[in-house]
Amino acid sequence: MVPLRRLLRSMRRRVPLWVVLPVLAAGTLEVLLHAASWSVPVPAAEQDAAFFPPGCREPDLAQARANAAFVMLARNSERREAKVTVRSIERQFNAWYGYPIVFLNDEEWDPAFVSELNETAGGKAVFEVIPRDVWSFPDWVDPEAARRSIKAQGETGLQHAGQEGYHHMCRFYSGKFYQLPALQKYKWYWRLEPDVEFLCAVTYDPFVEMERRGKVYGFTIALWELGDSCPSLFREAADWMDARGVRPTALWRATVSASWAPWPLRRWLMSLLAHRDARGDAWSLCHYWSNFEIADMDFFRSREYQAFFDYLDRKGGFYFERWGDAAVHSIAVAMYADPAQVHHFEDIGYRHDHLYQCPANAPGEAAQLPGSEVLARGERDPKWTAEEPGGIGCRCECDRSKGTRNHPEYCLDRLKRPNTRKRRWITWPLRLVWP
Ligand SMILES: *[C@@H]1O[C@H](CO)[C@@H](O)[C@H](O)[C@H]1NC(C)=O
Repeated sequence: MVPLRRLLRSMRRRVPLWVVLPVLAAGTLEVLLHAASWSVPVPAAEQDAAFFPPGCREPDLAQARANAAFVMLARNSERREAKVTVRSIERQFNAWYGYPIVFLNDEEWDPAFVSELNETAGGKAVFEVIPRDVWSFPDWVDPEAARRSIKAQGETGLQHAGQEGYHHMCRFYSGKFYQLPALQKYKWYWRLEPDVEFLCAVTYDPFVEMERRGKVYGFTIALWELGDSCPSLFREAADWMDARGVRPTALWRATVSASWAPWPLRRWLMSLLAHRDARGDAWSLCHYWSNFEIADMDFFRSREYQAFFDYLDRKGGFYFERWGDAAVHSIAVAMYADPAQVHHFEDIGYRHDHLYQCPANAPGEAAQLPGSEVLARGERDPKWTAEEPGGIGCRCECDRSKGTRNHPEYCLDRLKRPNTRKRRWITWPLRLVWP
């Protein structure tokens, strides 16, 4: 410490104020300009309005269906949980629309699962076994090294990181599922997980509406990724963009947190940290929670996405880290989709684990249609929770004592910014301490 203090003192004597001040001013200006270069453009108009006015509609049963299916990956041991999900989606949506459900398993199906879920599903149900070659280590990964790494990751306590199957699942959902023969014939999918509840009636066809409005990706919940699951993912993605000359979209800007360090530090030091690009700017870790997705499989089947996935796959991070399909999908959407192609289903009530999104109900009979015979068909006793001015939901049943309503809205605000004219700079930090 003594030599450092002596050095500073001698510098102070040698470097006059008229040198220090301009350097500081230039540094500050550079930092501000850099932050401004990452600003998210404000769209000319709101780009992601709700598809319909608040509340319920009479389901339009005569309307042609989209080329779409539900997809649920489940284990034989998750029969009860799978039934919770299928009962819920049947009651809240599929009783009217009758879309098929494709069940996927990496093992042979238990006949009891097949017969019970086939009965629970209102539309057609198919039960597929995932081929080994899309649920195993690729040739360029040494299985022994990968297993050692998976074991070590598990020992750090990172959620699911010690389970080999979980790594295969993340890779499968990132780059493989939409190529399965059972799904090849469909364009749209709605992803389901065991033990999920839909908390509002969905009285329109989201597939048809997404198609009509040129959307490719729909989500309900946005939140932070666990940083330890993917220390090198963002850097690999950013390097890919640099190498391919992919220009950052407004969504990409929204997902990045510009560094506040001055140029030399940013470029040479910050860039060495996890979740940073080569220029030292950071990923916010914000992503869409992919256990709910309504999306266009052709987006993932595109040549760009496939090349991006293959590149990531070669890096080994699905096994030597625990890259999740949620992060991979979100980064790819930020990279290749126009913000107007992404839709937040704020009117769909959804619960998975302890996180949920559940809107207040739109007030009045015109919004809740208590006399509707078609809506009565979903086996419902009409006991929806509070109607509130400004509410948007259709017959939502929200138990707000039960968990976190969305995640403190930081990530949702951030990922929706490219689509909205609202700017809430001031309220973000406040929300963190006082949500
Ligand atoms: C599901 O049930 C239907 C109607 O009972 C039957 O025709 C079909 O073969 C069953 N599917 C499977 C996969 O068991």
